[in-house]
Amino acid sequence: MATRVFSGIQPTGAIHIGNYVGAVRNWVRLTREHECYFSIVDLHAITIPYEVKELPARIYEAALDLLAAGLDPERCVLFVQSYVPEHTELCWLFNTLASVGALERMTQFKDKSEQFRENVNVGLFDYPVLQAADILLYKADLVPVGEDQLQHLELSREIARRFNHHFGDTFPEPKPALTPAARVMALNEPTRKMSKSIPGSFISLADTDQEIRKKVNRAVTDVGPLEGEMSPGVKNLFTLLEAFGTPEQVAHFQAQYDAGSLRYSELKPAVGEAIAGELAPIRERRAALASEPGGVWEILDAGAERARVVARRTMEEARERMGLRRK
Ligand code: TYM
Repeated sequence: MATRVFSGIQPTGAIHIGNYVGAVRNWVRLTREHECYFSIVDLHAITIPYEVKELPARIYEAALDLLAAGLDPERCVLFVQSYVPEHTELCWLFNTLASVGALERMTQFKDKSEQFRENVNVGLFDYPVLQAADILLYKADLVPVGEDQLQHLELSREIARRFNHHFGDTFPEPKPALTPAARVMALNEPTRKMSKSIPGSFISLADTDQEIRKKVNRAVTDVGPLEGEMSPGVKNLFTLLEAFGTPEQVAHFQAQYDAGSLRYSELKPAVGEAIAGELAPIRERRAALASEPGGVWEILDAGAERARVVARRTMEEARERMGLRRK
């Protein structure tokens, strides 16, 4: 049986190269062989403070980035989460299976509640349960994500197991699909993850060649002496070169590093060039798509229609299994 794939991305800012090599490029690859569902998860995005007026544009921009990065709407279902209300309904059913203790242990919840102390809302706490509903609504067995989502995915597996145990076999246990660049670090602070919320940490898919080169040239490489270990900043540059460059380039700089003669003045331009080379056609496609803004919304509306067919079917089954329908 063909594998079902599901993954999501929050419309909280520019899609960056961490999202791209950690997840999105893998999404594109998986559409060649599998039945794929990809969602712009707006209901997740509203769990942290946001500008109401800006949200529709953020959703649109995320869709534009994903399409430009190579997602073909003929080969996958691309949609906005809130347009498929079954996500929140399944989330409610799953709420009765998720334990408060497990949710309290989620590192993303701990980080976000630290960051937004004045707004630790129930949605933020429940976030991983909605994520489980996203995945299991499509009975996905493969979830291409970056490393930071592994804990959430483990919870989805646990919820699937519990549901199956109490109400009968219904959901597969979804497995993660990681890439070799599952954790790209912030360019300006390589001990932290590259993130939309850290200014200066990322290169976005829409950045120009010049911006890309400048950001890589400024990347922090030394963070104090480290005994016999590659510093996090240098390691990150190697991760990026592996993701965007050729194996020969990686071997060349690895040999320099091993010989103790690594030249940043050579490595950084090589990394910048490799990234710029891959992003140029994406930027061009983005501009072409943006010249026809109606087209993007049409794709998203059609995607939601297709997603709902599967979502309705799963919801019917879940309600029945839980005794919410008369016989
Ligand atoms: P989000 O929007 O933060 O990120 C989207 C995807 O990009 C990956 N990613 C990274 N990969 C490598 N290096 C990085 N620095 C980096 N930063 C982000 C993320 O791991 C993710 O795969 N909770 C999810 C969205 C979501 C979801 C889902 C994902 C909602 N429902 C169901 C999978 C399945 C999130 O906040 O991703």
